[in-house]
Amino acid sequence: MLSIAEQDYGTPARTDAKIVTLTIDGREVSVPDGTSVMRAAAIAGTAIPKLCATEQIEAFGSCRLCLVQIEGVKGLPASCTTPVAAGMKVTTQSRQLAEVRRGVMELYISDHPLDCLTCPANGHCELQDMAGAVGLREVRYGYAGANHLDAKKDTSNPYFTFDASKCIVCSRCVRACDEQQGTFALTIQGRGFDSTVAASQNETFMDSECVSCGACVQACPTATLSENSLIEKGQAEHSVVTTCAYCGVGCSFRAEMQGQELVRMVPNKNGQANHGHSCVKGRFAIGYATHPERIVKPMIRAKITDPWREVGWQEAIAHAASELKRIQREYGRDSIGGITSSRCTNEETYLVQKLVRAGFGNNNVDTCARVCHSPTGYGLKNTLGESAGTQNFDSVMKADVIFVIGANPTDGHPVFASQMKRRLRQGARLIVADPRRIDLVRTPHIEAAHHLKLRPGTNVALINSLAHVIVTEGLVDESFVAARCETPALERWRQFAAAERNSPESMEAVTGVPAAQVRAAARLYATAGNGAIYYGLGVTEHSQGSTMVMGIANLAMATGNIGREGVGVNPLRGQNNVQGSCDMGSFPHEFPGYRHVGDDAVRATFERDWGVRLQSEPGLRIPNMFEAALDGEFKGLYIEGEDIAQSDPNTQHVTAALLSMECIIVQDLFLNESAKYAHVFLPGASFLEKDGTFTNAERRISRVRKVMEPKSGHADWEITQLLANALGYPMNYAHPSEIMDEIARLTPTFAGVSFERIERLGSIQWPCDPSHPEGTPTMHVNEFVRGKGKFLVTEYVPTAEKVTAKFPLILTTGRILSQYNVGAQTRRTANNAWHQEDRLEIHPHDAEERGIGEGDWVGIASRAGETVLRARVTDRVQPGVVYTTFHFPDSGANVITTDNSDWATNCPEYKVTAVQATRVNQPSEWQKRFREFSENQDSLLQGADVFVGK
Ligand code: SF4
Ligand code: SF4
Ligand code: SF4
Ligand code: FES
Repeated sequence: MLSIAEQDYGTPARTDAKIVTLTIDGREVSVPDGTSVMRAAAIAGTAIPKLCATEQIEAFGSCRLCLVQIEGVKGLPASCTTPVAAGMKVTTQSRQLAEVRRGVMELYISDHPLDCLTCPANGHCELQDMAGAVGLREVRYGYAGANHLDAKKDTSNPYFTFDASKCIVCSRCVRACDEQQGTFALTIQGRGFDSTVAASQNETFMDSECVSCGACVQACPTATLSENSLIEKGQAEHSVVTTCAYCGVGCSFRAEMQGQELVRMVPNKNGQANHGHSCVKGRFAIGYATHPERIVKPMIRAKITDPWREVGWQEAIAHAASELKRIQREYGRDSIGGITSSRCTNEETYLVQKLVRAGFGNNNVDTCARVCHSPTGYGLKNTLGESAGTQNFDSVMKADVIFVIGANPTDGHPVFASQMKRRLRQGARLIVADPRRIDLVRTPHIEAAHHLKLRPGTNVALINSLAHVIVTEGLVDESFVAARCETPALERWRQFAAAERNSPESMEAVTGVPAAQVRAAARLYATAGNGAIYYGLGVTEHSQGSTMVMGIANLAMATGNIGREGVGVNPLRGQNNVQGSCDMGSFPHEFPGYRHVGDDAVRATFERDWGVRLQSEPGLRIPNMFEAALDGEFKGLYIEGEDIAQSDPNTQHVTAALLSMECIIVQDLFLNESAKYAHVFLPGASFLEKDGTFTNAERRISRVRKVMEPKSGHADWEITQLLANALGYPMNYAHPSEIMDEIARLTPTFAGVSFERIERLGSIQWPCDPSHPEGTPTMHVNEFVRGKGKFLVTEYVPTAEKVTAKFPLILTTGRILSQYNVGAQTRRTANNAWHQEDRLEIHPHDAEERGIGEGDWVGIASRAGETVLRARVTDRVQPGVVYTTFHFPDSGANVITTDNSDWATNCPEYKVTAVQATRVNQPSEWQKRFREFSENQDSLLQGADVFVGK
């Protein structure tokens, strides 16, 4: 638990190696060169009054409150904009300074409402504090003159209010939006007395370019920009540091609390992944935890057509265990399995896979990473030796060229995108490979040097032609590859890459990217200094997903862009703990730490520790579970925090498999789409209600801390433990820290990890072991984890999903900033204000050809099925390509995605589906059936007293 307010040092920290010593009020202080006098004073323990300065943004020097006297310097310089110098002698307090500061404050206060007692910022207002600090006792000008007290409030944003009457025009909000967020949505318009803050072209915040990140709210020293929750509930009385449960950036927040009630989430400026920044989801979209549809009591039913029956925990767990045992007796040991969650903690995920391996006695465990980043694990393990990204986020600040492939960071990983944009504004060059014009291609003060607008499904052809240029134009870093990589494999790859069939000219017809652009991009990446690759699901969710990951690793090795800061291969993981769920042994063939179940020595270690015999054969992957279910061999499934009925491809196939099972146990917050096919519902806990750790895309393990008691009575790890015990496999952990101790004991890459060490260091990037006791920010520094890096030949094999006269368009999918994954959480928040439905993006030419206008209903038919969405006509997509998000269940995006998948990992080919689009005027048959089924399922809950707050 921390105090509510963190100290604000006024200006950003500097990291210069040169240390400068100066004297402030007679006291010596030593700070890095470039530090402001204001910051140096704060470090020395003296808070100089300030209004327009704050630590998260560069100093501006407008309020003149922070003036100081410096020996030998004329006048009164502003301490926020004056850098320290060796031997400098600074005075921060004197009669003259006090008078000037009082005069400044007097002017501010004369045009400020005097409603402090009823103001939401009362007690935490910097203006109020500064009036006190400078000893202001009266305002000689009175309050009757011209003022802004009647200025209108802007309440358009669902999460914060802009009350212009309280604005002191310090510009902190404008600078936070520019520097920290990189959206440039705000300006100060007008001059002198008429100066006001304006969003975009003097629009409301909601109508402007604002993306609701909250940085301006955080920066505002008054109550002008205030969270609505703070206005409604008042100030918090304590705060707890925890980690965002949305995306793989893993932002650290202070949950500000009144007892058990959350007042607001404030980004933690000491957060090592986010440095005090946030996005609209983690900052504001928290209401789902108390949404009236949240279920907090266990329920069971015999058939999915029966009404749910509320039961106690004991009965629910006993029933679930007896059903699983019955199924194993009747259909065999391998007839049941479990699915771990990439939203739950490491400790919870570890327990589920342990329950399956040790309690169920098989390896039928898988995770939703199957459908997103499993090719990352496979591709990086085989080339570099470790199934994870190579850098920390801060590494991007040393990149000279940033290559973004199949990722949309401003929507998917917004806080990291802001950091990346900062680096790009500093002059790093940008290459984007994406079929769609993502925001990053052109955004304020940033323009990609190259946008390689490839056809969906041709990633490998593109990476091979980039490799061709690097090999044939002498751009290979020969000393790096000679020292660090396996020679025979390198030579095989070199020959392969140099083959004419892989040249940009030969591949142009396949990728659709002009050869000259490919050549220019390859040269830029290979020669501009530090080259860093960031990629997302546009790389992995293909029939050649693993091949493309290997192709990326090849490119980084060939150019020597690996093993130091500023370079690397960086998968942008989607969900908060997708890295962790993979690390924790969620895949059927691997124990925690990516060790094969067939490895006798590894298995023996687990057998000794867990006290059971373990299977040496890999178990079923999710798609194989569905196949086995349809074959009548797989009958029971325990699903923790995942919604396979919505998130997995070919929905009709998935639901047929679910319908064929005899006991589905869903542990979740809501009656999600999968739960509609379930027989046991175990109410899960939100991230606010439990202790544990998440591992973000940088391999950073951060603490999740319980800020309130679980609303259902149990955290998720406790529920898994209850089930294990009921099945006869004992688990007796008193706290998640004990689970982490076991993980560390059994997993070499986690050997040094403990809650105590995370507490001490703030977070830890694995590997953390005796040789890296504080973790590993950059991997493969002197040698690759596998010893020598291994180049692999990446032959391009076109996907089986072909466009034809019947299905002439390619559908590709992605996500949007305000919604998250299947939308179960964000759809139950005010984030719907930005995105209420999934739309089909279609190019104006394709739309016109089909008579489709903006907002028309469009039937989208593929070989797998058909659905209907409204059209958004836009040239963001190229002709021949359509695009949609899949955050809403009845959009049915996965009704049309096919069964095609990555050859190595079965990761579905979500990014390439051949479709036809036609104008229609009613929902698809599937949508009609879906709505009827959902209404029916909802009716089976009617009258149940199982919801939160009841
Ligand atoms: S809204 Fe707040 S941060 Fe922005 S100029 Fe006004 S007082 Fe300063
Ligand atoms: S919320 Fe974020 S994007 Fe919106 S105006 Fe404030 S800083 Fe800019
Ligand atoms: S960027 Fe990701 S981790 Fe950070 S606040 Fe947003 S959703 Fe949460
Ligand atoms: S804080 Fe230095 S001029 Fe405003």
